[in-house]
Amino acid sequence: MPAVSFPSSFLWGVATAAYQIEGAVQEDGRGESIWDRFSHTPGKTLNGDTGDVACDHYHRYRDDVALMADLNVRTYRFSIAWPRIFPTGAGAPNPKGVDFYKRLLGELEQRNILPAVTLYHWDLPQALEDKGGWRNRDTAARFTEYAAYMFRELGDRVPLWITHNEPWVVAFLGHAFGIHAPGLTDWSAALLVGHHLLLSHGLAVQAYRAAGLSGRIGITLNLGPQMPASDRPEDLAAAQRADGYHNRWFLDPVFRGSYPQDMLEVYGPLFRPEWVQGGDMTTIAERIDFLGVNYYTRGVVQHSDQGVLRLRSVQVDAPRTEMGWEVYPQGLTDLLVRLHTDYGGPVIYITENGAAYRDELTPDGRVHDPERIVYLREHFLAAHRALSQGVDLRGYYVWSFMDNFEWSFGYSKRFGLVYVDYATQRRIPKDSAYWFREVAATGRVSDGPS
Ligand code: FCB
Repeated sequence: MPAVSFPSSFLWGVATAAYQIEGAVQEDGRGESIWDRFSHTPGKTLNGDTGDVACDHYHRYRDDVALMADLNVRTYRFSIAWPRIFPTGAGAPNPKGVDFYKRLLGELEQRNILPAVTLYHWDLPQALEDKGGWRNRDTAARFTEYAAYMFRELGDRVPLWITHNEPWVVAFLGHAFGIHAPGLTDWSAALLVGHHLLLSHGLAVQAYRAAGLSGRIGITLNLGPQMPASDRPEDLAAAQRADGYHNRWFLDPVFRGSYPQDMLEVYGPLFRPEWVQGGDMTTIAERIDFLGVNYYTRGVVQHSDQGVLRLRSVQVDAPRTEMGWEVYPQGLTDLLVRLHTDYGGPVIYITENGAAYRDELTPDGRVHDPERIVYLREHFLAAHRALSQGVDLRGYYVWSFMDNFEWSFGYSKRFGLVYVDYATQRRIPKDSAYWFREVAATGRVSDGPS
């Protein structure tokens, strides 16, 4: 079987996020987050699922890290729950919250697994939401304090820091579509939130530089090619708007210090110029050390006369995951090459990629997930094609290490390499986990069915 080889320095990893796995939401002084409030609000998540227990990782982190080591995981991306550190978003830090992450880092260090730490994976302290959340510019200042505090406490033990995970999701799913916390449906608020998220990112990068640490800091964006459903000029224009909305709205400020002009025109009065105060764009464009890319699928769109963006998504006939997302590996190559070309060849980590499938524990005690192996293999190969074209790709984190709380979908979507039996909290590595273990050990991905 022909195979491709990744460089020996290439980092193979797995990713998770605090609210999706930790549970223990009332322990050791943790404060309430907007996801506690949202998931406990009737009708917001499938079956009313919440992260109260999740994977109980807060108590099982030792075993979880041991399992990662068994699977040859070289690097682990996790997030810190802000409300464990600052239960009310301001004031005195909670030492017990910080201790948890110190213990987790200790386990990772013992097993030679490099931590990549996300500061914000969506669990804003509810007390800050009560003061306007990310619509309030002051939240960017609170975030910077929290970030600076984490750099002081853990900075020298963490080689990779990520300020934000997917500001697009926070801004638009949380504030324009209302399907994520805090559940608003106001486009203008979403754009304001996007600006404050970007601003807080830049401020945190500045705080990191001021701390004089030797690791690297970046931001994770969810990105994907946005393609026209036909070559009619109005569909081409719609695809351009979809690209501006999904990709350039965040990439351009971070890499170029400006919002894309065409999108400012699309948003018109929804985006108010006075939100952008003197110096904001320079702060946002503070040099980063790497870009984190979360890639799951592409978009295919056509023109519509409705809505802010005047476009609608088109479902092409193609294989899909349990999320309904099209499996489109070439989009990863195209995206990475485009980022390399358009944004100055940044160092890139794929900070998330993976798939949900209908996994079942079978009587042989295993979970057979051939579709996930195919999905991952094709995306690893797509990443390798980008590497061959000169993209400075340094590592790849599979989403996710284990099945977990998939936000508004609750526990119904399983993304893990490791199956979680929620009734017993037993972890069962799926076939894909054993396959990943080989890839991570050898850096080789076979170029056809295994
Ligand atoms: C991303 C999120 C992650 C997970 C995956 C499936 O948008 O960052 O927490 O939900 O999607």
